[in-house]
Amino acid sequence: MAIQPDPVTPMSETTPRPFPRRSLLFTPGDSRRKIEKGAGLAVDGLILDLEDGVALNRKAEARAVVGAALAEIDFGRIERLVRVNGLATEWFAADLAAAAAAGPDAIVVPKIDSAADLARVDAALAALEAKNGRPPGGIRLLVLIETPLGVLNLPEIARCGGRLDGLILGGEDLAAGLGATRTPEGWELFYARSALVTAAAAYGLSAIDNISVDLDRHDRLAEEARQGRRLGFTGKMAIHPAQVPVINNCFSPTPAEIETARRLVAAYEAHQQAGTGAFAFEGRMVDRPIILAAQNTLHRAQLTAPYEE
Ligand code: COA
Ligand code: MG
Repeated sequence: MAIQPDPVTPMSETTPRPFPRRSLLFTPGDSRRKIEKGAGLAVDGLILDLEDGVALNRKAEARAVVGAALAEIDFGRIERLVRVNGLATEWFAADLAAAAAAGPDAIVVPKIDSAADLARVDAALAALEAKNGRPPGGIRLLVLIETPLGVLNLPEIARCGGRLDGLILGGEDLAAGLGATRTPEGWELFYARSALVTAAAAYGLSAIDNISVDLDRHDRLAEEARQGRRLGFTGKMAIHPAQVPVINNCFSPTPAEIETARRLVAAYEAHQQAGTGAFAFEGRMVDRPIILAAQNTLHRAQLTAPYEE
């Protein structure tokens, strides 16, 4: 059989908004109290959850609470996301309709296995945007990669473009699907984390790392967050307000990093003017890739600055 190239999935056209997405805090969708609490935090994004954080007999209640919260609460700079139940569930259609009517910044879709799954979500959302008189593609999508098939299909999912803004690692579901045992070191998820970061970077998407379920071990959370950042993740999910500052801190460039990046870029520009490519800077060879990393640091600093006020 001849190998066919991947079909390119047409996705609605869009304009991405520059949210830093260091910390995305899950807040159960049926808890107005927690949503209000979340809106007052120095968090980059809140994921109002209709899926696993909500009991099976509270799904309709959660939809109503999330709709009212988005209409009534001032979230300031915080990105407003709603996680719906998965495509294969009986709740998906009603969740998506409620979320689209409420008009969050983005919708988080769990258990995406393929580009075809994503195309179905996009088409349903586009129809709802048209029905609600909202601009096409205005509501962004972030997808949870949390099945073995989702990991295998990362390249075709990441290249869908359009309203797709980010990939999130759902590590607990994935470990269960893999038959893996969770360990503190996390090597059982290393391949998936690395594959997700690579796919996200290739297509300019946010890469969001797994939650840390230990509520009291902030040393462990910080170590996981630093490891994620070193791998290339742009942020990490949180499940409790106390995790948010730890995550923000780990994913923010430090003042020393910003200062070094500024000096590097200035030195690079001076050397370019003088017709020099590679040069020595404080005992290390510097060339273009190192400057790109420095520019990336300055860009991240610019994105996060308003959230530090
Ligand atoms: N978002 C917003 N506020 C939260 C919160 C969250 N995720 N978790 C806790 N809070 C609030 C609490 O309401 C409490 O404030 P209050 O005293 O004014 O009501 C304060 O922070 C301290 O909470 P604490 O007592 O330490 O935690 P808890 O026992 O109330 O809740 C959890 C513990 C794990 C149930 C809670 O953190 C939670 O719901 N996390 C999200 C779970 C989730 O969404 N899972 C699905 C995705 S993985
Ligand atoms: Mg999950």
